[in-house]
Amino acid sequence: MVRTITVHSFKGGTGKSTITANLATALAARGRRVGVMDMDLEGPGLHVIFNITPEEVKHTLNDVLLDAVSPDEAVIPMNGRLGLEAGSLYFSPASVRVGEMLRTLRTGFELESFSRAIAKLGTSFKLDYVMIDTHPGIENDTLLVMGVCDHLVIVSRIDQQDIFGTGVVVDIARTLEKPAHLVVNMVPKGLKASDASKLVKGIGHHFKVDVAGWLPFSDAVQSSLSKSVFILTNPRDAVASRFQDLAKQLESYN
Ligand SMILES: Nc1ncnc2c1ncn2[C@@H]1O[C@H](COP(=O)(O)OP(=O)(O)O)[C@@H](O)[C@H]1O
Ligand SMILES: [Mg+2]
Repeated sequence: MVRTITVHSFKGGTGKSTITANLATALAARGRRVGVMDMDLEGPGLHVIFNITPEEVKHTLNDVLLDAVSPDEAVIPMNGRLGLEAGSLYFSPASVRVGEMLRTLRTGFELESFSRAIAKLGTSFKLDYVMIDTHPGIENDTLLVMGVCDHLVIVSRIDQQDIFGTGVVVDIARTLEKPAHLVVNMVPKGLKASDASKLVKGIGHHFKVDVAGWLPFSDAVQSSLSKSVFILTNPRDAVASRFQDLAKQLESYN
């Protein structure tokens, strides 16, 4: 059965899209069948990282949710584009119209219909994982994507505003009874790895949340300008192996 992993943060710019794209690609490269959904409806970014132009998007998640098209008509197969030989990667782009639709959602019924759409995608493509990128903050749309997931990856920087927001997201995950896993991103370069690990462990302990791992601030990631999937263009970079470790970590969640 398909396992749904939502990647979320309270604040914007924490690295959600970067992390979603790299972890989804890493899982595929490890032989998994992976769907990636862009549910950051107000600021979609995954299509940029995956190099997809708007003209190439024929149908979106909106059409799938409305049952206007079958799930396979609204996904873009990524293996050929990314040169991935192992596994399978399928991308479902966002549509602004999905935003309009989701804003009208109020009840558990919609949560169910969204879950059904994910299950349908999972069945059609025999997916092992669906990874969902989100819009930061706590709004209806975000609660919906938190509500449908099996696991929640919470991304935070070491910044007091982020840390505060992470506490809020952890509380919501607990209320929704979703297992949450913290990824601390952009850890300052000057910090020794052992000190960074200790610090990140401390944050996890403070919020009583599992720590999946951390990524340092990386000039290489930043200078890649979100133009590509980092682990594919810089496979030998230390951050690429950290993404690989995080992907293994995701596989260990049941
Ligand atoms: N570990 C990192 N080190 C340096 N820059 C990073 C790192 N992770 C992400 N970035 C950069 O930060 C910016 C925001 O990342 P993005 O993934 O778009 O965040 P979000 O989706 O949370 O808004 C991008 O320019 C991205 O390349
Ligand atoms: Mg984003």
